[in-house]
Amino acid sequence: MRTQVAIVGAGPAGLTLSLLLQRAGIASVILESRSREDIEATVRAGVLEQGTVDLFDELGVAGRLHREGAVHHGIELRFDGVGHRIDLTGLTGRSITVYAQHEVVKDLVAERLAQAGAIVFDARDVAPHGIDGDKPWLSYKAGGAAHRLQCDYIAGCDGFHGVCRQAIPATARREFVRTYPFGWFGILAEAPPSSPELIYTLHERGFALVSTRSPTLQRMYFQCDPHANAADWTVEMIWAEFRARLATRDGWAPIEGPIVQKNVVGMRSFVCEPMRHARLFLAGDAAHIVPPTGAKGLNLAVADVQVLAHALIAHYTEKRDDLLDRYSDTALARVWNAQRFSWWMTSMLHRFPDADSYQQRLQLAELAYVAGSRAASTALAENYVGLPLALPD
Ligand code: FAD
Ligand code: DHB
Repeated sequence: MRTQVAIVGAGPAGLTLSLLLQRAGIASVILESRSREDIEATVRAGVLEQGTVDLFDELGVAGRLHREGAVHHGIELRFDGVGHRIDLTGLTGRSITVYAQHEVVKDLVAERLAQAGAIVFDARDVAPHGIDGDKPWLSYKAGGAAHRLQCDYIAGCDGFHGVCRQAIPATARREFVRTYPFGWFGILAEAPPSSPELIYTLHERGFALVSTRSPTLQRMYFQCDPHANAADWTVEMIWAEFRARLATRDGWAPIEGPIVQKNVVGMRSFVCEPMRHARLFLAGDAAHIVPPTGAKGLNLAVADVQVLAHALIAHYTEKRDDLLDRYSDTALARVWNAQRFSWWMTSMLHRFPDADSYQQRLQLAELAYVAGSRAASTALAENYVGLPLALPD
């Protein structure tokens, strides 16, 4: 089989890239190692920047998102038992939409298939070859047979644990890593939203976050030991933790309900530079990871592929390769700002095991400054709703 752009991974990055290319008449094939059912059921992100929603509108995949997603105009920062609203829309003129990542994936898959675009699900042992030459190809197994997919370019959209980044020789890439001494315990609970807007809390016991999924389902997280086993936490222990961390001086308490899902995720910051090696381009979590506190990962993945699609379209329609040559630098500028913002939000809102009382007071002073200063609130808000994406000329 032959195509123009071979895409590894049907996550938000790979699927969005395929639709952007398809719209420009460029052929692609997606190889995905998991089944359609599996990728459409994996619970992850929830916050979409306005720019991400605008792109999904342009691609014609935002119908259900507008019907079922919730537009939020503010978030709450809660510390010292008091809530402080950050007026996202008042400060930036923009908003965010809360809509689950697996619903985004369902919408993108449906559109890709409706346009008769190829997705090979359950593709095993995907491996890139010949990336240094001008005829790269991928080997993989599907339906019990071995296959070969020839292409002009490979887009590695295969997430942090994928194979594409590893295909770049270690001497040709540099990796920047920070691991945090905590993880997030995430739950889905059958209960109406405890709050109309997201609440990010710092408490002596650590961070907690109240988000939502629908009028009957809440998504909530709290900071935990990164090695914690979700099965060891009883329902009562979980709610006790949320009640303690989210308590306000005027007696606020979360609305509780049956917990239908629970899991623990580790937290790390990671960047691989450059995001290109010869004919292989990395996008999304394959190239970088942010801790989830800034809600940036999915949005960054979508921004990367907009930059990449723009460059590939210039190659195919104008025979220009300068944008492909600049892809990594262009994408990395946004990536590093998202790293900075996600690191800052994480540092401000989590309890660090080795922090002394001085550092804890500084953390509260920082939160008070952000909540009380219009300039500082705006700095948070403009990053949270997403800085404008400038595509190079
Ligand atoms: P992925 O979604 O990881 O997709 C990669 C795909 O490649 C997968 O389908 C995988 O099966 C496939 N694959 C992997 N290896 C191979 C292989 N060898 N061959 C073929 N296919 C392969 N981001 C936000 O923007 N907002 C949030 O609110 C937010 N909250 C989060 C909360 C949590 C708890 C977590 C864990 C993450 C959160 N994120 C958030 C981050 C977001 O989920 C990721 O950044 C996003 O999924 C990245 O998309 P991607 O397409 O790059 O990678
Ligand atoms: C959600 C996830 C995040 O990482 C975040 O910062 C806010 C909300 C969510 O899953 O709803």
